[in-house]
Order: sequence, then structure tokens, then C-alpha cells
Amino acid sequence: MAAVLDTVRAFFAPSTYTIDAETPADVVARENLLDRVMGPERRKKSSEKIRRGRLPAKGLALVARDEDGHVIGTVRLWNIEAGVSQQGTPVEALLLGPLAVDCTHEGRGIGGALMRTAISEAAQRSHGAVLLVGDAAYYERFGFFADKTQHLVMPGPFERSRFLALELKDGWLDGAAGMIVASGRKLA
Ligand SMILES: CC(C)(COP(=O)(O)OP(=O)(O)OC[C@H]1O[C@@H](n2cnc3c(N)ncnc32)[C@H](O)[C@@H]1OP(=O)(O)O)[C@@H](O)C(=O)NCCC(=O)NCCS
Repeated sequence: MAAVLDTVRAFFAPSTYTIDAETPADVVARENLLDRVMGPERRKKSSEKIRRGRLPAKGLALVARDEDGHVIGTVRLWNIEAGVSQQGTPVEALLLGPLAVDCTHEGRGIGGALMRTAISEAAQRSHGAVLLVGDAAYYERFGFFADKTQHLVMPGPFERSRFLALELKDGWLDGAAGMIVASGRKLA
């Protein structure tokens, strides 16, 4: 029954949306959306260890809103060090996630719009690379592949085939090896 209702709601859902910077007023709606879409298990993910107690990278917390301004999608990016370079210096990068779209609005291009806006904003802010853990079948369309992360590890269990990266600057992750660690601003 729930699935039927979701389908009916999706059919009648408004088709226009906007991508916007997240504001403090969006936090509760974003957390509720993530609980609905991903369930409470989301808090046990290795990526969550990197996000916990940190603020997202500047300008890189985005929401999708419906015509009434309600949050129907979210993506955030986080400052990390993606191991160290061959010269032994930390490799600054971003970790993307979670990305989620309200199930009544799936398949309308909102996930894609959030991804493209986030990538373009990250590039404009001169970041060198974006990493994430997710389905390659979805993220490859945005240029994310597993080859650039082969010498990197997450701080906890992860599936290597789902550990993906996109270079915003050519060769940024060349030789990067080691563990991903959080490097973003801490929550007060
Ligand atoms: C994944 C997700 C963000 C996509 O949002 P969306 O707004 O429906 O995405 P878009 O409309 O831009 O793209 C839809 C396309 O992606 C495809 N797609 C969605 N999830 C996919 C997946 N896991 N693997 C492969 N393809 C996927 C759909 O089949 C559709 O394909 P089509 O364009 O050929 O019809 C959304 O389904 C979601 O929130 N899922 C649950 C949370 C999640 O898995 N997040 C990602 C991990 S952090």
C-alpha cells in the first residue's frame, strides 16, 4: 500500500525544483529526509565518522526545494585529507555525501542537478578532487571512478568498488595513498 501511495504522490508531485544553499532553517528537514530515505543505519557508515563533529566545506551544503520551498533533496561535501602524496604532504580533497532525494521526487533529475551543482561549485572554489562511497552505476555518469582511490582507505569498513573519486584538477590524486581523515572546521 505504501508503495502504491508513493507512486500516486510522485505522479502528482510538482515538477519544478530549485537548487539552493542550505540554511540553518533547513537542518531539521534535511535530517528528517535522510532518516526517511536512508534509515537510522546511515549513522553507522564509515563516512559518518569523517563528518561527525565537523561543518561541511564552505559553500558546499546544498538543498533541492520544491515550489513551496520544502527540502526535497540534499548533498553536502566535507574537507578531508586523502592520504599523503609521494612527497609526504597531505592531499586536500572533499568527501561527498550523503546525497539523497525524497522518494516521491525520484527520477526527476534532482539528484543529478544536486551533483552537477556541487561539482561545479567545488571546482569554482579551487578544490582538487571529490571522493565518495556509493553505487558506481549511478556516480560514473558524473565522472566518478574507483581507479583514483586504489591506494586510499576509509577509516572503517568500506567496499573498494564503491570508493570513487573525481579529479577536478588533472593528476590531483596521483600517488595519493593512506587513510582518509577529516580536516574541516569543527562544530562549536
Ligand atoms: C540515488 C538518488 C540520489 C538519485 O536521485 P534522483 O533524483 O532520482 O536521480 P536522477 O533523477 O538525477 O537520476 C535518476 C537516474 O539514476 C538512476 N539511479 C538511481 N539510483 C541508482 C543507483 N543506485 N544505481 C544506478 N542508477 C541509479 C535511475 O535509475 C535513473 O536512471 P535513468 O535516468 O536512466 O532513468 C536517490 O535515488 C536517493 O536518494 N537514493 C537513496 C539514497 C542513496 O542511495 N544515496 C546515494 C548514496 S550516498
